[in-house]
Amino acid sequence: MPPAALAASKTDELRARWCDAFRAVRAETERRAAPLSAEDQIIQSMPDASPIKWHRAHTTWFFEQFLLVPNVPGYKVFDPRFAFLFNSYYVAAGPRHARPQRGLITRPTNEEVAAYRAHVNAAVERLIAEAKPAALPEILRVLEIGLHHEEQHQELMLTDILHAFSLNPTNPAYDKNWQPPPVEGGEGYVELTAGIHKIGHEGGAYCFDNETPAHQELIQPVRIARSLVTNLEWLEFVTDGGYMKPTLWLSDGWATAERECWEAPLYWRQVDGGWFSLTLGGVRPLDLAAPVMHVSYFEAEAFARWAGKFLPTEAEWEVAARTGNLNDAFGIAWQWTRSAYLPYPGYRAAEGALGEYNGKFMVNQMVLRGSSLATPANHSRVSYRNFFYPPHRWQFMGLRLSDYDA
Ligand SMILES: [Fe+2]
Repeated sequence: MPPAALAASKTDELRARWCDAFRAVRAETERRAAPLSAEDQIIQSMPDASPIKWHRAHTTWFFEQFLLVPNVPGYKVFDPRFAFLFNSYYVAAGPRHARPQRGLITRPTNEEVAAYRAHVNAAVERLIAEAKPAALPEILRVLEIGLHHEEQHQELMLTDILHAFSLNPTNPAYDKNWQPPPVEGGEGYVELTAGIHKIGHEGGAYCFDNETPAHQELIQPVRIARSLVTNLEWLEFVTDGGYMKPTLWLSDGWATAERECWEAPLYWRQVDGGWFSLTLGGVRPLDLAAPVMHVSYFEAEAFARWAGKFLPTEAEWEVAARTGNLNDAFGIAWQWTRSAYLPYPGYRAAEGALGEYNGKFMVNQMVLRGSSLATPANHSRVSYRNFFYPPHRWQFMGLRLSDYDA
C-alpha cells in the first residue's frame, strides 16, 4: 500500500475506534438511567446531588460546548437555553443555573433531553468521521476528556439516585436484582520500606491533569491493611460508643456529627434491634463481612483513632497499590486517605475553561483512592485521585487502615 493510502487507512481505523468508544460510553449512561422513571430522573435530594436527567443533559452539553462549538464550522446548538441550564461549574463557559435548584427544572422533559443527546451524538460522530486529519488529534484529545467526564457522571448517577431513594420512606430499589461485587478480603498488612518512591501518572495512557506530574515522595516505614474495614468492625465502633466520644473526633467532625445526628454510616438502618442497609438493591440485612461504605472522612478518621491506627496518606496508598498486594483496591469502595487534595509539585491547571476541570478544587478537600462498585469499567487506575469534602458520605466511600512502628 502506498504511504498516503496507508496513512489514510490508519486514520480511518482511528476514527472507527473512537466512534465505537464514544457510542459505548453514551450508551452506558442511558443503560444506567433506564431503570428510572421520569419522576425518579427529576429529583434532586440535596445540593451536592444532581437529577439523573441533569446528568444526561450536562454530559451532552460538555461535548457540545467544548467539542462541537469550537470544531464544527457553523454548528447550531440544539437549544441556546441549555448552556445556562446544563453548565455545571465552568465560569469561563458563561453563566449557569444555581446548582441547588437543578431539581426544579421539569422542562426540558426527559424526551427532550433524549433528543438533545441524539442530536449531539450524531454531530459528534459526524465530526469524528469527517474532521480533517490535521485537526483530528486536538478533536480526539477533547473527545477523550469528554468520555472520561461522562464516566464520572455515570458513577454520580448511581450515588445520587441512591441518596434520593434513601429519603423515600418506601425504600425503593434501583435494581431489585442488584448484587454487590465479590470481595477478596484478607488478613494482615502490606509492608512498605522507608525510602523515596515515585507516585503519579507517568504517561502513555489517559489520565486527568491532577494525577501529574509524577514525582518523588518520601515514605516512612508503614504497614497498609490488605483489606478494607468491614461492617462488622464498624459495628464494633458503633456499639463501643464511637459516635458518642468526642475525644475520638476532629472538632469539625464532632460538630458535623452532632448537627446531623450521625449514629452510624449514612445508609444503615436499625429495625427491631437488627441492622439493615440501603443498597442499590433496596434495604437488605447488613452484610457484616462486606466493606463498610458511606462514611465521611470525619468518621473514617475517628474510626482509625478508635482502632489505634491511621488512614494512609495517598502516597502510601499508591506505593502499596503498585505492589499489587492491596486487596479490593478497586471496584468496591473509594478509600479515604489522610491527604489533603493539593496540586502535585509543578502542577499547573491548563489554560481556558477545561482548565477548571480539577485545579480550582484543590483546597479544603481530602483525597480518596481506588474506585468503587459504581465506577465504570476501565475508569480505575492506580494514580487516580478522587476528592470530596470531609463531611461527604453519599459516595461509595470506605477505608483501609495503616500503622507505623512505634
Ligand atoms: Fe461535569
